[in-house]
Amino acid sequence: MRRGVFVEIVNWKELLYPYEQAVDELLLKFRCLDKECRHLGIYSPIDSVTGRLKKPASILEKAGKKQIPPEKIEEKIEDIVGIRILCQFVEDIEKVVTMVQSRKDMTVLEERDYITNTKPSGYRSYHMIIRYPLSTALGPKEVLAEIQIRTNAMNFWATAEHSLRYKYSGNIPENLQHRLRICAEAAFHLDREMSTIREEITNAQRLNEI
Ligand code: GTP
Ligand code: MG
Repeated sequence: MRRGVFVEIVNWKELLYPYEQAVDELLLKFRCLDKECRHLGIYSPIDSVTGRLKKPASILEKAGKKQIPPEKIEEKIEDIVGIRILCQFVEDIEKVVTMVQSRKDMTVLEERDYITNTKPSGYRSYHMIIRYPLSTALGPKEVLAEIQIRTNAMNFWATAEHSLRYKYSGNIPENLQHRLRICAEAAFHLDREMSTIREEITNAQRLNEI
């Protein structure tokens, strides 16, 4: 019944169009940043960027779970726009975070550091909730967006874990959860080892230059 009410009240096409525009703009902006670094010959902390618009069914599910009325969807659901920035090395993540914080075309509302504060599942990622102003045909509009910043190794784990969690409808048996946590630690070990190797190579290069 409640779901039916939502479907009727929310005009999805109208609601989601500005969000689609925000996905397009943010993707372009972060990809341009990466391209510009490469053009200037400076190291780019961005390896790749993807974006997605949350589907109406997922928005409805979340609104239902969190008891969010239709008129509060835009204010309360922060991840209708989702941007994911992947980095090669863990230390690149804070460089991307600084880049986002210093931009004048978006405002950071919230930051969640699941790298320092790893989730009990083993999930690692840096999340930023931003307010993003749009210029639409109907005038100015601000939307919320979630930016997830993580290494390729963290992403490998998160995407695989997400699809497994989906198969179990969120209720993964404890022994499998335990093994997934071990996998998350193994992925993070890879990240740290790659950073150490990178540091040693950089130091060796510096010594050769002197
Ligand atoms: P949501 O209702 O999911 O928005 O919860 P929240 O507002 O507390 O956000 P949280 O920061 O916990 O998670 C936001 C997003 O991070 C999720 O939608 C997932 O994309 C991702 N995420 C969080 N925890 C996990 C996890 O344990 N595994 C995986 N694969 N992804 C996670
Ligand atoms: Mg959230």
